[in-house]
Amino acid sequence: MVDSTSIARRPVADILQAEAGGGGGPGLARNLSAFSLVCIGVGATIGAGIFVLTGTAAAHYAGPGLMLSFLLGGIASGLVGLCYAELAAMIPASGSTYSYTYATLGALAAWIIGWDLVLEFAFAAATVAVGWSGYAQSLMADAGLHLPAALAAAPGEGGRLNLPAGGIVLALSALLILGSREAAKVNAAMVALKVAIILAFVLVGAAHLRPALWSPLVPPNEGSFGAFGWSGVLRGAGVVFFAYIGFETVSAAAGETRDPQRDAPIGLIGALVVSTLLYVAVAAVLTGLVPYRDLAVTDPIARAIDTIGFGAFAVLIKVGALVGLTTSTLTALYGQARIFYAMARDRMLPDLFAQVHAHRRTPWMSQAAIGLATALVAALVPIDLLGELVSIGTLFAFILVCLSVLILRRTEPDRPRPFRVPGGPLVPVLGILACLALMAGLPGDTWIRLFAWLVLGLAIWFGYGRHRIGNGPDRGIRAG
Ligand code: ALA
Repeated sequence: MVDSTSIARRPVADILQAEAGGGGGPGLARNLSAFSLVCIGVGATIGAGIFVLTGTAAAHYAGPGLMLSFLLGGIASGLVGLCYAELAAMIPASGSTYSYTYATLGALAAWIIGWDLVLEFAFAAATVAVGWSGYAQSLMADAGLHLPAALAAAPGEGGRLNLPAGGIVLALSALLILGSREAAKVNAAMVALKVAIILAFVLVGAAHLRPALWSPLVPPNEGSFGAFGWSGVLRGAGVVFFAYIGFETVSAAAGETRDPQRDAPIGLIGALVVSTLLYVAVAAVLTGLVPYRDLAVTDPIARAIDTIGFGAFAVLIKVGALVGLTTSTLTALYGQARIFYAMARDRMLPDLFAQVHAHRRTPWMSQAAIGLATALVAALVPIDLLGELVSIGTLFAFILVCLSVLILRRTEPDRPRPFRVPGGPLVPVLGILACLALMAGLPGDTWIRLFAWLVLGLAIWFGYGRHRIGNGPDRGIRAG
């Protein structure tokens, strides 16, 4: 039962008017610079992917071919990043992928993608927060401190409550409620620290490389798809793709930028280039220091430093990881609140998600509700398999972004595009194919979970969202 409300597209002009506060009340503050955007992108991107998942991907799937896996992930993200840049400069709205989909495919598709983005942002924040808890507890153990087992992990993982994971989500949500600018400053300082520590790892590691460990670069396949060989490189790329998620948070922040047409493309592409270079370098050094089969640990970079006997530096690496995971969680929570804010403004979610604080001009109710829900997931849900679900959900959203570029060029050909992806339809089409290839590399049960999540979203649409948006125009933004 798909009615006209479900498929009506939303004109881009309408989205931009709502973003400017067309419905009354203050809009979000516009105080972020291009540099803040690059920091938001790098902050969101570099986290659990590089500090936690690299080891497993090398040990089980790709071996030293991990460098190629990261390169593949970077190419796919680069193609999508260019599409994001065109859309973010043209439609600088807080809803990002959700708003682009509303403009191209209508309300039902926008709802589905908004629902899918919960995987990309809130679930990603919860997953990274659990990685944060692991590193925090490891640092505490180095200092002789131990949490009671019941408070150290979720039920099903040996505890009752992952207190540090839930706690960090709540603390970061409080910071975000205080103000985007304050959060951006804290974020920029932490990004500088984590990039410095990663560079130090690359430089120190490069002086102790054992190039023989890179040979063969792609270990022979062991008989099944994904167990080394080229299919292993592909599966490795699907797994470490998690590491690239986050650069697109820049597009969710475009509505709070001083000069979005110029700054959004710089932020997106800048964050992606910095992250890709660091990732390929880390993968090369890591697999050149430790035989790949020994990397199946949750703190591979600290382990690699241990093998060259720099105990104190390993502690510093853990601090870098903790900082990296903090910025990644912070920015994912930030992005999720902006998306729910845009959805509530369009009446797809309850009005409280669209309330902007009169003084701080942050979507504080949305941020608080998301903080609470995400803290509960981080503290109580066994998180093992969420990482792959986050990746497949994000790839699905990325396909929609590439598709939106193609559709908007037909439906709104005359709208100014301050940044235009070169090469006609080539880049968006290659972006779609690259995302499909990475999705194909992920295991079948991850596909089933994505499908189940989307079916749940459809049920909510038909039980709630469809009636709500059919029930009146959007109400603009309210001061709370
Ligand atoms: N890319 C982010 C990370 O690796 C989600 O933590």
